[in-house]
Amino acid sequence: MVKKIAVLPGDGIGPEIVDEGVKILRVVAETFGYRFSFRFGMVGGGAIDRVGNPLPQETLDLCRDSDAVLLGAVGGPRWDDNPPELRPEKALLRLRKELGLYANLRPAMLFEGMEESSTLRPEVLRGVDLIVVRELTGGIYFGEKRRERSEEGEKATDTLVYHEWEIERIARRAFDIARGRRKRVTSVDKANVLESSRLWRSVVNRVAEDYPDVELEHMLVDNCAMQVVRKPAHFDVIVTENMFGDILSDETAILTGSIGMLPSASLGDGSFGLYEPVHGSAPDIAGQGVANPVATILSVAMMLRHSFGYEEAARAVEQAVRSVLAAGYRTADLAPSGDLAIGTEEFGDRVAEAIRRHEPSSSTTVP
Ligand code: NAD
Ligand code: IPM
Ligand code: MN
Repeated sequence: MVKKIAVLPGDGIGPEIVDEGVKILRVVAETFGYRFSFRFGMVGGGAIDRVGNPLPQETLDLCRDSDAVLLGAVGGPRWDDNPPELRPEKALLRLRKELGLYANLRPAMLFEGMEESSTLRPEVLRGVDLIVVRELTGGIYFGEKRRERSEEGEKATDTLVYHEWEIERIARRAFDIARGRRKRVTSVDKANVLESSRLWRSVVNRVAEDYPDVELEHMLVDNCAMQVVRKPAHFDVIVTENMFGDILSDETAILTGSIGMLPSASLGDGSFGLYEPVHGSAPDIAGQGVANPVATILSVAMMLRHSFGYEEAARAVEQAVRSVLAAGYRTADLAPSGDLAIGTEEFGDRVAEAIRRHEPSSSTTVP
């Protein structure tokens, strides 16, 4: 069966990294005999410039008619002073909400030899393998917002709202994920101050009763921000609300060597998903062909796994990235001196080549 993939390159480095993601999908199709169709759509700043809407209806319809979405990144200084509805970022928020993608999985894996690319000491990084499970369609991002004039000057309001059912479904997702890993959930909140966090904590405690085999701990977000760089190997699954998850996941980039290494999957209840790197449009390096495509390529692996159930192909992509890194190839963000760095396209080509050399696992080989 043909899997329909909507491709939304977006702004800044978006088109450069998405090119590599599509390249990898094409090679996976050739190597494993799968069939993918690619349909491209406008999103973000480019869509504002062309049609005056960061998420044109046709793009939303395209996503709804697909099995998965591959997205690059949106945003840039050109649109930073736009009104809220005409900001590129609005497209992402709407996509996530309209498509019901409440569970955002952001794994941080440390590949062999990458310790040298991190600004942390190698011994701190030993054993790092965690995943942030970020609630993606609630919280302060989506609560009521207001800007008004008062006698004391301008006033702005953002509201942080969570319903019990929103907390429950993301908590269940986190516990389910933990069952397939090291069976530890760290629920991160600010229950010493926020009412929404107190509800969060009580709902997570209740859900935990259904998972006696999984260890649960609660951690306040400020402490977590510190522990994540003090003792990162302690963490297995971190589950947290929308904004805390946004911030903590960028922090975990430092455990992997670069923000250019972090993939993500945004899922709802079915197999449909949106896949994008955790990083943004990186306007400072856009158009130079130097962006790290690994976050996007690993997002493609997550698509193969979570939306299509192509586990072996997913592993082959991850293994290909591992082997290219192990052979010493680095994009500029990972090679501080810069002199040995290769570009976005060459990195993608090397990963593609490594996938072509993939040998089917014994379980699928006829003896
Ligand atoms: P950013 O993630 O774009 O960049 C932060 C730093 O990391 C920059 O120095 C950048 O060069 C570097 N970087 C990011 N991705 C990289 C890659 N693949 N390879 C090498 N280096 C990389 O964050 P920012 O600068 O705060 O935001 C820029 C724009 O992106 C803003 O408009 C923001 O709203 C938007 N943004 C979009 C998304 C998204 O589309 N999902 C996510 C975050 C930020
Ligand atoms: C991310 C981004 C987005 C977010 C922005 C661009 C809306 O930072 O995907 O992490 O805050 O969710
Ligand atoms: Mn972010």
